[in-house]
Amino acid sequence: MIIETIVSTMDNDEKVNFSPFGIKKNKNQIYISPYIPSKTLLNLESTKCAVVNYTDDTNFFVNCIIGNKKFKKKKCKNFPGFFLEDCFGYEQVKVKRIIKDKLRPTFVCEIDKSFQIKGYEGHNRAKASIIEACILASRVHLLDKKKILNELSYLSISVDKTAGTLEKKSWKKILKYIDKKIDEK
Ligand SMILES: Cc1cc2nc3c(=O)[nH]c(=O)nc-3n(C[C@H](O)[C@H](O)[C@H](O)COP(=O)(O)O)c2cc1C
Repeated sequence: MIIETIVSTMDNDEKVNFSPFGIKKNKNQIYISPYIPSKTLLNLESTKCAVVNYTDDTNFFVNCIIGNKKFKKKKCKNFPGFFLEDCFGYEQVKVKRIIKDKLRPTFVCEIDKSFQIKGYEGHNRAKASIIEACILASRVHLLDKKKILNELSYLSISVDKTAGTLEKKSWKKILKYIDKKIDEK
């Protein structure tokens, strides 16, 4: 199973970067597989540390994609990293091994410590659709315009039916971004 998360990493100057990543988990290990090139990949290579944040707040995903990453964050205790203040929980991980690949290496990480901040509040279909739209947004350069528009049209059904105020805002934001990216193609 792949879990959609927000991964935070730091560079050697301790500048923090947040980005959405679908991670895999197996017991005490977490696998992060960034395509080349990526800031997360460079940071994982140089610092060998990351924080995996669990959230279903679509604002984090949308704002990462549109490049607005000024999130409320807190410094981890005794670990070089930051976590999202408003997440369900997070895991501090250390890179143990890198499975090399020309397109998409995998960082095999060991969980150093896990933290729970608040309880899961239940599944909302609009949130899932917005995260899908974020994935489309990160692949506009690879996908056909017709496919993108068809998928967005389907995803809009659950957004129209189930979104709250925040989700409606996120949805508008990601649609605007995708439109702009399609025009720039
Ligand atoms: C839900 C979601 C999951 C993603 N998972 C991955 C992934 O596993 N690997 C990857 O390379 N990019 C993934 N992406 C795209 C990256 O977030 C995106 O390419 C980002 O620009 C990389 O950021 P960075 O340069 O800050 O590391 C995902 C995007 C979304 C919205």
